[in-house]
Amino acid sequence: MILTTPILGVLALVARVSAAPSPDALLARAPPVQIKTLSATQIAPFLNKANAPFSPNSSLSARDSEEPSDRLTSRTIVGTDNRVLWPSPDYPYSAVGKLTFSSGPACTGTMIGRRHVATAKQCLPSLSSPWSARFAPSYYDGERLGGSNAIAVFIPNSLTPVGVCGYKEDWAIIVLADPIGDTATGWFGSKQINCTAQRNIANWFHTGWPADKGGNRPYRQEAITVTRCDECAPGGPLETDADVLAGQTGGPLWLWENGSRYLYGMASYGAVGRNYFASGPNFYGAIGAAYSAYP
Ligand SMILES: *[C@@H]1O[C@H](CO)[C@@H](O)[C@H](O)[C@H]1NC(C)=O
Ligand SMILES: *[C@@H]1O[C@H](CO)[C@@H](O)[C@H](O)[C@H]1NC(C)=O
Ligand SMILES: *[C@@H]1O[C@H](CO)[C@@H](O)[C@H](O)[C@H]1NC(C)=O
Repeated sequence: MILTTPILGVLALVARVSAAPSPDALLARAPPVQIKTLSATQIAPFLNKANAPFSPNSSLSARDSEEPSDRLTSRTIVGTDNRVLWPSPDYPYSAVGKLTFSSGPACTGTMIGRRHVATAKQCLPSLSSPWSARFAPSYYDGERLGGSNAIAVFIPNSLTPVGVCGYKEDWAIIVLADPIGDTATGWFGSKQINCTAQRNIANWFHTGWPADKGGNRPYRQEAITVTRCDECAPGGPLETDADVLAGQTGGPLWLWENGSRYLYGMASYGAVGRNYFASGPNFYGAIGAAYSAYP
C-alpha cells in the first residue's frame, strides 16, 4: 500500500504528459507515407476541372477583409520585406498550415479538399527510404487547431522537365489520415489561372511559415503580382514578385474572388527579383485523381 501511492502518482503524471504530446512526438508516431506517382495517362481524365472552396463557418466566407489595402512597388526581400505576421486562425487561414517531415526542413501546405493538402514536391524527403509527415493548420507556436498525419502523397511520375519549366511540376498532394477540412479548417477552391485576364494585377495573396522569422508563426503577403504565367505551358509556372524564403515553400498563391478563395499555385523556386509558384494543368488534374482515390 505504501508503495502503490507514489507509483500511481507517477503514472498519473505520465498520462497527463502524453495527453498533450509535442508535434515532434506526434510526427515520430506517424506511419510512413505511401508514395503514389501519377502519369500523364492517369491524370488525363481529370484535366480542366476547377474545384469549389468550402468554409466551415459561413459567416466568414463572404468577408471582404482580404481586399488588398496597399499597392506595393518593391517586393524583393533585399529591398522591402512585405511579409506581415498574420495570427488570424479564421478561415481561410485555418486552411493553411505548417508541414513537418521526419527528416528535412519544414514547409507550408494548403487544404484543397476535406483531407487533401497541396504543397511543393521539393519539400518531400528522399523517396528512397520511408518517412512520415504531419500537417498542422494555422500553426502558431504550437498546434492550436490540431493536426493530422499524412498517409499518402501524389507526385508527378515522369512529367518533370528541367529548369523553369520544371517548377511547373513541383507539386505534391498529401492525403491526411483525418478529414479535418469538414469541420476544423475548410479548404480553398482550386483553378487554373487565365493568363490573359489575370496577369499584371497586384491582387494575389500568400501565407507561409518563414524559417528566417523563426518558422513557428504564419506570415502573409498581399498585393502580389503574377508577371508571367505561360512560359512553359498555359498556366504555369507562375512567375511573381512575392517574397518567399525557406519554410514558405509549398505555400499558396491565392485569390479572393467575391468571398471565395482559390488556390492557383504553390511556392517553388526563386531567382533574383522573382519567385515561381508551381502550377499548371497536371497539378489540377492530379487533384481530381487524389479526390478519386481518397474521397
Ligand atoms: C464564425 O465566425 C464568427 C466571426 O469570427 C464567430 O463569431 C462565430 O462564432 C463563428 N461561428 C462558428 C459556427 O464557428
Ligand atoms: C481568359 O480571359 C480572357 C479575357 O478576359 C477571355 O476573353 C477568355 O475567354 C478567358 N479564357 C478562358 C479560358 O476563360
Ligand atoms: C463577382 O460577382 C460579380 C457580380 O455577381 C460579377 O460580375 C464578377 O464577375 C464576380 N467576380 C469574380 C472575380 O468572380
